Amino acid sequence: MKIYSAPLQGYTEAVWRNIHNDVFGGIDGYYTPFLRYEHGEIRNKDVRDIERKNNTVENLVPQIIAAMPEEMRPLMELIVNEGYRCVDINMGCSFPLQMRKKHGAGLLAHPDMVAAIMKATAEYPDIEFTVKMRLGCESKDEWRALLPILNDTPLAHITMHPRLGVEQYKKPVDVDAFAEFYDACKHPVIYNGDILTLDDIKRIEERFPALKGVMLGRGLLANPALGVEYRNGRTLDSAELCTLVQQMHDELFRLLSPRLQGNTQFLSKMKPYWEYLMPDMLKRDKKAILKATSIEKYKAAVATALANY
Ligand SMILES: Cc1cc2nc3c(=O)[nH]c(=O)nc-3n(C[C@H](O)[C@H](O)[C@H](O)COP(=O)(O)O)c2cc1C
Repeated sequence: MKIYSAPLQGYTEAVWRNIHNDVFGGIDGYYTPFLRYEHGEIRNKDVRDIERKNNTVENLVPQIIAAMPEEMRPLMELIVNEGYRCVDINMGCSFPLQMRKKHGAGLLAHPDMVAAIMKATAEYPDIEFTVKMRLGCESKDEWRALLPILNDTPLAHITMHPRLGVEQYKKPVDVDAFAEFYDACKHPVIYNGDILTLDDIKRIEERFPALKGVMLGRGLLANPALGVEYRNGRTLDSAELCTLVQQMHDELFRLLSPRLQGNTQFLSKMKPYWEYLMPDMLKRDKKAILKATSIEKYKAAVATALANY
C-alpha cells in the first residue's frame, strides 16, 4: 500500500515537504495545499509553493480548488507550464468561506458542476487527474449521485475522507460509509482520516485490502515518522524520534528564519506545528514551547521538551 502526505494549508508547504522528505521520508507522494484562482489571479505565495525551483520532492502533486472550468484553467496553465504530470482536484475542503463558493466539499451537492469539472479534465490529455473528496457536504449519500460521473472520468485514484463538509473535523470518521464507497468506486481508492498510529494504518489495510493507499494529515504532523514506520514495519523509539524531530526542526529554523523577520513572525509560523507535533509529550513542556516569547526561549523550550520526551 502506498502512503501519501495530505495537503494542509499553513503546514505542508514546500519547506516542510522538502525537509520532511529529507529527514523522515517514507512517503510515496506529497500533495500541495490547494491552489485557488481568485479575483482574476493566483496568489504569489501559491505560485512559489509549486515552482520547481522551490521543491526538491519529486513525487509532488499540486492540488487545485475550483467550482467551474473557468477557475480551473488558469491554475492548470500554471501547473502544466511547471511541467507537472499529476493534478489533484479538491472536493473536500470544509472551510466555510470556500464551501460557500461551491469550492471543495461545497461542490458535492452539485453533480452538474462536478460533471463540468470532470469534462474539463479531457482538455489536458497529458495530465493524470485524481480527486480528494468527502462523502458529501450535508448528507452522507451525496457521493452516490457523483459516482457515475467520477467512474466515467479517467481518474488515477480517488482519496475519500469519510466525513461531511459541514462536520469539518468534529464527528468520528464514518468507516462503514467509506466501505460502501470503496466497494462501488471503479477507480483505485485511498483512505484518509484520523490515522494516528502504525496500528491504525494496519487496521485500515486489513479491512480494505484492495486500497491503493492511505493519506496521512494531522497524524503525520503529530508523528512525522508514521510513513517510514509503515515502510519498515516498526515504530521508532523515542530517542530515534527525538533525533529526527530535532533535525527537522533545525532545518525548518535554518530555512525559515531568514524569511520570517523577527520573533513574532517566526514564532507564529513555528508554534502551530507544535499544536500537533508529539501530542504525548509532557504538558508543561508543550506549554513552554507554545508560550515562548522569543526565539531564544523557544529554542530552549524545544530542547528541554525533546530531552524529557
Ligand atoms: C489546517 C488544515 C488545512 C487543510 N488544508 C487542506 C487543503 O489545502 N486541501 C485538502 O484537500 N485538504 C486540506 N485539509 C484536509 C486534510 O488534507 C485531511 O483531509 C484532513 O485533515 C483529514 O485527514 P487527517 O485526519 O489525517 O488529518 C486541511 C486540514 C486542516 C486541518
